Amino acid sequence: MTKHPLLDEVLDGSRLINICEEYGTPLYTYFGERIRNNLDHIDTALKKNFDKYQIYYAVKSNNNPNLLTFMHQHIPSLGADCSSPGELLVAKKARIPIKNCVYTGNFESIDDLQSAVDSGCEVNLDDETSFKRLKNICIPEYISFRLNPGVGKGRFAEIVTGGHDAKFGIPVEKIADVYQSALTDGVKTFGLQCHAGSAILDENHFKENTKLILKPARLIENTIGQRLKKISIGSGFGIPYTDDEDPLDFDNVFHLVAEVFKEFYGQHQDDWPILCIEPGRAIVGDAGILLARVTGIKNSYKKFVGLDAGMETLMRPALYGAVHRIYKVGNPIGQQNITVDVTGRICENTDRLAVDIPFPDVMEGDLIAIMDTGAYGYAMAHQFNTRPRPAELLIDKDGSRLIRSRETIEDIFRNCDN
Ligand code: LLP
Repeated sequence: MTKHPLLDEVLDGSRLINICEEYGTPLYTYFGERIRNNLDHIDTALKKNFDKYQIYYAVKSNNNPNLLTFMHQHIPSLGADCSSPGELLVAKKARIPIKNCVYTGNFESIDDLQSAVDSGCEVNLDDETSFKRLKNICIPEYISFRLNPGVGKGRFAEIVTGGHDAKFGIPVEKIADVYQSALTDGVKTFGLQCHAGSAILDENHFKENTKLILKPARLIENTIGQRLKKISIGSGFGIPYTDDEDPLDFDNVFHLVAEVFKEFYGQHQDDWPILCIEPGRAIVGDAGILLARVTGIKNSYKKFVGLDAGMETLMRPALYGAVHRIYKVGNPIGQQNITVDVTGRICENTDRLAVDIPFPDVMEGDLIAIMDTGAYGYAMAHQFNTRPRPAELLIDKDGSRLIRSRETIEDIFRNCDN
């Protein structure tokens, strides 16, 4: 049984209650200290096991530029993994040096590629056809390609990004030829990237996945007659979403990954490519709490607790059946007398944040905390039923700071006022 790192905050509740009085609900809150701890855990473990490494924060997990600035101030070497021109802009706003940014797209359009090239970041291409499009713009000195290792893994089938059904990356059988033809076209040096799935808590997976990357890497190196400069093992670093899961021990994860590097590249780290990772969830996931108020309690065929946050605020439960711990603020482990579905106000019956969970007695107006919503929470929020998106708040030693104002209904229609 692992206690949530922010449970005491919810248990006490006073700070969260005051914050919601000031800023309203629904409200995404992020805890700076937790983000720093997560960054340090990953960075220290990498440092222990690798002489040369680079962390690219996956901007898609949480695209708030103020949050990225905050992370970058803590770890100045932090880079950004961007999957759209918009995410490149986030990295720019956070003043991440462009040499530490990489563009990892999928079915990249000419415009996407043009904006990546214009920014000056590294480009990681999803397919040989992407390279054909890029050639119309320029032949970069350095490039990497995304490998689909033929298998993938993820907490839900929907977030597996490797394997025969995945739309991402280049199959093992093709990859060496793709590098050879880029070399022939004039690219000078190369990297290799692979991200085969997300939200994985099995430490051994990262070892096996690294083997699946380094085998084709060797084939590529033999084909093009040079060593790859960088190998990105992507991410997939999970976090516990329930009390009975344990967090990843990054010391062990990177120890295992380094063992595989040793096996393929030998003892001397000077001979190793730079190890790159692209974590999102493991940095911001458990640092975020979505706060919402009970708007109604309904005894129908089932008992429903309705909130002012629903699938438009947090899509993960409706999209994947994802489970998030949900507490009544000020009473997270009190008596749980009732079984409820927690839902929002959206005109979809899939609008659930939880199904059949034990819950304490609640009243209209009570404050509810939905845990582990720092990653893929706000970033996937939308405006269905013309519900404006919530505000975001960063809580740290020196107090709380609004890092994104609440959207207004008028904001939704700004582009209609021509
Ligand atoms: N690198 C690439 C190329 C990716 O596509 C992703 C996530 C990451 C890194 C970061 O992965 P992470 O650290 O979060 O495992 N919406 C889903 C997750 C989709 C992840 C997509 N790619 C969710 O809510 O669980």
